[in-house]
Amino acid sequence: MSDGLLDRFGRVHRDLRISLTDRCSLRCTYCMPADGVPWLKASTMLTTEELVRVARVGVEMGISEIRLTGGEPLLRPDVVDVVARMAGLEGPHGHPEVSLTTNGLRLPGLAAQLRDAGLTRVNVSLDTLRRERFTELTRRDRLTDTLAGLAAADAAGMSPIKVNAVAMRGVNDDEIVDLTQFCVDHGYQMRFIEQMPLDAGHTWDRNEMVTGEEILSQLTAHYTLTERGDRGAAPAQVWDIDGGPASVGVIASVTSPFCGTCDRVRLTADGQLRACLFARKESDIRALLRDGSDDEAVAAAITACLQLKQPGHDIDDPTFLQPDRPMSAIGG
Ligand code: 5AD
Ligand code: SF4
Repeated sequence: MSDGLLDRFGRVHRDLRISLTDRCSLRCTYCMPADGVPWLKASTMLTTEELVRVARVGVEMGISEIRLTGGEPLLRPDVVDVVARMAGLEGPHGHPEVSLTTNGLRLPGLAAQLRDAGLTRVNVSLDTLRRERFTELTRRDRLTDTLAGLAAADAAGMSPIKVNAVAMRGVNDDEIVDLTQFCVDHGYQMRFIEQMPLDAGHTWDRNEMVTGEEILSQLTAHYTLTERGDRGAAPAQVWDIDGGPASVGVIASVTSPFCGTCDRVRLTADGQLRACLFARKESDIRALLRDGSDDEAVAAAITACLQLKQPGHDIDDPTFLQPDRPMSAIGG
């Protein structure tokens, strides 16, 4: 196991993204219909014991970073316990770094406990700073709660605090500088994401997408940007703003795919392992966890899943097929 989690293309996998629930407290239009999506059945959801077991096997195989996602991961009632148990795992790279991608709504009540449990970093999704727009986009009037969540993470000493925004034409593409400046002023790191074809409603349109290049040109009109070198396996290309330390990043998943350095593998809340967000096949780990299989069988299933991983997602290829499941079920 000392070579780590290798796929057929020599990519070493160190980052395990675990979806803790497919439920969400918002209904972002680019993610879910107003009524939500057909939720996963409770009996198919992994118990915390099961989640920790898969994570433990992964960490023993070379996973060094665990990212908790959803849906909205803070809706899981025992999320603090999940963080503590994940942070306590140990493998060839020591304890994994545990981080969380959240809409921030529950951070005011949870940030301090999460920090004490071992959470060091958060990514908060925030697509707009305008209240009416936020309400329209998420179908919930909760901008002030997200902002309070960011402040709570900051007060709890989490660092870095990253803010993720999906750039959307005619929706928030006039707020690229405003969002960035908000982050500069608060010491957060802004990350813009190209919209990917992952919405439950299958409405994504390549021609409507705001490209990384467009985002960058808006930013360079306002700031002096200096590109940071060596992004490693990180999806974001990062620039220092006006000499730093503030920075802004662009995740150009569609126009500039970073599949070649991908080190990520995903576990859905119902126990399916996916080698890629866009994978056509999932590996049913839940069945193994529930049929008395030993850790070696779980490890073998993880290895086998990675052997199915394709070199890239081919979003720009005419034959591209959107995954069967929406992002909220796969985990961001
Ligand atoms: N394309 C790009 N990013 C998306 N997210 C959700 N749906 C999409 C999409 N179709 C983002 C969320 C969150 C992160 C988990 O992924 O806004 O920041
Ligand atoms: Fe919830 Fe994230 Fe989907 Fe918005 S994008 S509805 S915050 S899971």
